[in-house]
Amino acid sequence: MIFTRRSVRGYSEKEVEEEKLEKILKAAMQAPSAGNEQPWHFIVIRDRERLKELANIHPYGKMLSSASVAIAVCADLNLTKYHHPMWVQDCSAATQNILIAARMLGIGSVWLGVYPREERMKPLAKFLEVPEDVVVFSLVSLGYPSSSDAFYEAPDRDKPERIHKEKW
Ligand SMILES: Cc1cc2nc3c(=O)[nH]c(=O)nc-3n(C[C@H](O)[C@H](O)[C@H](O)COP(=O)(O)O)c2cc1C
Repeated sequence: MIFTRRSVRGYSEKEVEEEKLEKILKAAMQAPSAGNEQPWHFIVIRDRERLKELANIHPYGKMLSSASVAIAVCADLNLTKYHHPMWVQDCSAATQNILIAARMLGIGSVWLGVYPREERMKPLAKFLEVPEDVVVFSLVSLGYPSSSDAFYEAPDRDKPERIHKEKW
C-alpha cells in the first residue's frame, strides 16, 4: 500500500461510502502520538458547496471541488500540555494514516498542507468555525480516482546516499 500510494487529484462521481470513511478515520486515530496524547480532531466536509468553497480557500486545493469528501486534521492545543509542540508530528502521523488507509480501500487522496502557513490557517479556522485553541493542521482531499492507473507503482525514490551507518 505504501509503494502504490500516490497523490490522486482527479476523482470520479462515486461517493466514498460512510463505512469506508469511518475506517479511514479509525485508522487516523491509530496513529502514534507523543505520550499517547492523541491531540487530534477531524472535521469531515461532504457538502458540495462547502467543498467548492474550501477549494477556493486553499491556494493549491482546486481538486477539492470535485472530491467526495475532505477531512481537516486539527490539533486541540488543550490536549497536548506535556508534549507540546509534538502535536505537529502527531497530526502528521494521523494524516499519513488517512492516506494509507484510503489507498487500502481503493480511494484516492492528497495531503494539502495548512500548518504552519498563517495565510491558510486563518481563513480555514474561520470557515470551519474551530475554537480558539484548535489549529487546522492539514486538509485531505478524498475520492474514487477518475483514472484506473491512479495508483501506479512507486517512482524511484531510492537514495542510498541518504542512508548513513552509525554516523553521518
Ligand atoms: C506537507 C505536505 C503538503 C502538501 N501540500 C499539497 C498541496 O497543497 N497541494 C497538492 O496538490 N499536493 C500537496 N501535497 C502532495 C505532494 O505534492 C505529493 O505528496 C508529492 O508531490 C509526492 O507525490 P506522491 O504523493 O504521489 O508520492 C503535499 C504533501 C505534503 C506532505
